Amino acid sequence: MLTLELLRPDHAEAVLAFERANRVWFARTVPDRGDTYFAEFPARHAALLAEQAEGTCRFHVILDPSGSLVGRINLVDIADGTAELGYRIAESAAGRGLAKAAVAEACRLAATAYGLHTLTAATTLDNPASQAVLTHNGFAVTGETLLGDLPALSYRRSLAALRPTE
Ligand SMILES: CC(C)(COP(=O)(O)OP(=O)(O)OC[C@H]1O[C@@H](n2cnc3c(N)ncnc32)[C@H](O)[C@@H]1OP(=O)(O)O)[C@@H](O)C(=O)NCCC(=O)NCCS
Repeated sequence: MLTLELLRPDHAEAVLAFERANRVWFARTVPDRGDTYFAEFPARHAALLAEQAEGTCRFHVILDPSGSLVGRINLVDIADGTAELGYRIAESAAGRGLAKAAVAEACRLAATAYGLHTLTAATTLDNPASQAVLTHNGFAVTGETLLGDLPALSYRRSLAALRPTE
């Protein structure tokens, strides 16, 4: 069982600890955030909250039943009913179905609470776990792209089946 919470100011300490503890783990499959991210974390956190207040992004932390922060899942570039999905799970919590469940919950929130009709995502070719997470949640490959300078696949999912009937 997991909980998604919209990013808040008081999540800063736990998010920074999560990013520090998993920096090497994440860098295996997604571009490293760089030293500046960690050195300027308070300003970075404030900037995310400002973006969220403008309505163009929805950032979430993923909490396990004990309330520990075990992941992050975000909807960015929200416009015209669509958004780009991104997520990361702590190494210590990986392989237990958390990403699959968090993506399912993010899709539900996107369709019901945020009024979106489509999500897109991308994952590098060498990230079969993330590809499995997207496929499990009904995302279909739409083409090839780059993440940083790494070859990747683009995905799309319609949220029509999750939207309240009008
Ligand atoms: C990728 C990531 C999100 C997966 O999180 P997770 O909580 O371990 O994922 P889940 O346990 O929900 O599901 C993983 C699925 O991938 C499958 N999988 C794992 N390794 C695999 C591999 N090498 N080949 C094929 N499938 C694999 C698992 O079997 C599982 O699918 P199944 O339940 O149908 O068997 C996590 O490893 C992570 O955060 N990695 C670093 C950041 C990242 O890559 N983010 C995604 C960017 S697009």
